[in-house]
Amino acid sequence: MCGIVAAICNKNNANVVPILLEGLKKLEYRGYDSAGIAVIANDDFSRIRSVGRVAKLEKQCQEQNLTSQIGIAHTRWATHGIPSENNAHPHISENICVVHNGIIENYEQIRQNLQNAGYVFQSETDTECIAHLISFYRQQKNLALLDAVFATCQDLIGAFAIAVIDKNFPEEIIVARQNSPLILGCGNDNEGNFAASDASALLQKTNKMIYLENGDIASLTANNIEIFAQNINSKLLENISHLRQIKISELSPAAVELGNFRHFMQKEIFEQPDALVNTLEIISGCQNVQPQIFGVNAKNILQNISKVLILACGTSAHAGLVARYWIESIAQIPCQVEIASEYRYRHSIADENQLIVAISQSGETADTLAAIKHAKSLGQHKTLAICNVAESAIIRECELKFLTRAGPEIGVASTKAFTTQLVALFLLTLVLAAAKNKNINFPKLLNDLRHLPVAINKVLGLETQIAEWANQFANKNNALFLGRGLHYPIALEGALKLKEISYIHAEAYPAGELKHGPLALVDANMPVVVVAPNDELLDKLKANLKEVEARGGELYVFADANADVKVSKNLHLIQLPEHYGELSPILHVIPLQLLAYYAALAKGTDVDKPRNLAKSVTVE
Ligand code: G6P
Repeated sequence: MCGIVAAICNKNNANVVPILLEGLKKLEYRGYDSAGIAVIANDDFSRIRSVGRVAKLEKQCQEQNLTSQIGIAHTRWATHGIPSENNAHPHISENICVVHNGIIENYEQIRQNLQNAGYVFQSETDTECIAHLISFYRQQKNLALLDAVFATCQDLIGAFAIAVIDKNFPEEIIVARQNSPLILGCGNDNEGNFAASDASALLQKTNKMIYLENGDIASLTANNIEIFAQNINSKLLENISHLRQIKISELSPAAVELGNFRHFMQKEIFEQPDALVNTLEIISGCQNVQPQIFGVNAKNILQNISKVLILACGTSAHAGLVARYWIESIAQIPCQVEIASEYRYRHSIADENQLIVAISQSGETADTLAAIKHAKSLGQHKTLAICNVAESAIIRECELKFLTRAGPEIGVASTKAFTTQLVALFLLTLVLAAAKNKNINFPKLLNDLRHLPVAINKVLGLETQIAEWANQFANKNNALFLGRGLHYPIALEGALKLKEISYIHAEAYPAGELKHGPLALVDANMPVVVVAPNDELLDKLKANLKEVEARGGELYVFADANADVKVSKNLHLIQLPEHYGELSPILHVIPLQLLAYYAALAKGTDVDKPRNLAKSVTVE
């Protein structure tokens, strides 16, 4: 889950260093424990690597006045070896220099073979074996750079997106991908060509993108791009450039800028009304929801399903948990939700009429992707991706798709992706209900959906009160989140948000489960956050609040305006608008996002890039 960038420009034209650094800044969400850059200057590599952020690397590049027309760069999320200068990319083996995103599963064997052949390793990374292996094929087997990279890729098992340069041949960059994302950017006016882990890194230069497929190897020169893949019959490389079209990215560079906000997470929380409007555009003016919004074959597929299995990780899995309540209560179809990393290795009971729904912001999460493949390998081919990235691997793996239109999400803690996923899942619920002839009040529910952006804006107006609560949280070590029914997953999401960015240990429980354990933890030092919508479980929830109050616990309750929860010495209350029915979870998550954001702010943590985490988890 690192980020890579590569750039080659026309000689008398440009210096790639600022392009590479700008690209790395955009990719920092993928990993940020160390960064590095290598360029070719005067027939040699100039390489700078450092532990920490890209800004530090940038300063070092300026101090050393690094310039060149060709270079590669990397921002790292450590897997093999601690974050250190030696383990930071690029890695060099004689004339070869490599950056890599992914994990090489058979690196120990390759490393051993190369060590036996006399290669000396400087790092603990799996990547260094790629550099030595290319070098080996170049020197010992006398292969051209493209062929040496191809031969190397044949030996690698695992996931990789790599960019390679040879210091004796500063006119070409070779890139290759297998199971990790890699995109080419075609420069304007012969300015040069570029590659990166995602389009946001390249928008500074171009919106003309080529999305490489697994097994592709590309040669980039300043004026040309050629793409190759192995021919199934001859096993040799063949030029397949004609099969990979240039696509114009619709992402605007401004969408990945911070603007007037202090953090991306804050920006993304406040973008939610717009993100929902954009996601709902697909049903604008409709009085019901057509299955085709999930793809051309959706009608046939969805009519014949007997149950639903949702696969996802992290926040996306919490969206799935909310959807389970909707799908079972509204569409009355059995629905299970499973963490992708569990499902992929479990002996489960397959059912060819089960709809497999993969939810993912990035569309690149390795476990979710593997879980879909696993489901398909068991004969379950009715697959649907709900995803925020159009050209992602998960979108391509599934037969049906729904694109959430949240726009780029940069903050590691997912916010607007979550609420747009919920909207997509609610639309799916409605389509399933219609397919099963359930009696649904479509106009009312669609009206509620369309009114959500306005309702969210009202909740966002609670920001100041929530920030005050957050200041009281900042000195706590633990917090408990309670919810019931549809809002239990919202409590889970609130706890996840708080722990990932403020490092306060937080756990969520269904409120009815309190007496079976967590009540023992409750004392004056344990804030208990409660999601209290005015639904049919409210009275039971209020009884749970009494259990906490009786033990001296301090309650922070987010209740609907008409929920009639009384403030007391130990019960703090923030009121949301009136109860919003089935869609209420989409409103109730907003204050929890703000609570986590302001708690992190009060603690002074790195909100957008919390320690040890990364946005897009493309490794197991
Ligand atoms: C990481 C991110 C989370 C995200 C999860 C799943 O843990 O930090 O924000 O929810 O991955 O990612 P996906 O892109 O599949 O939704």
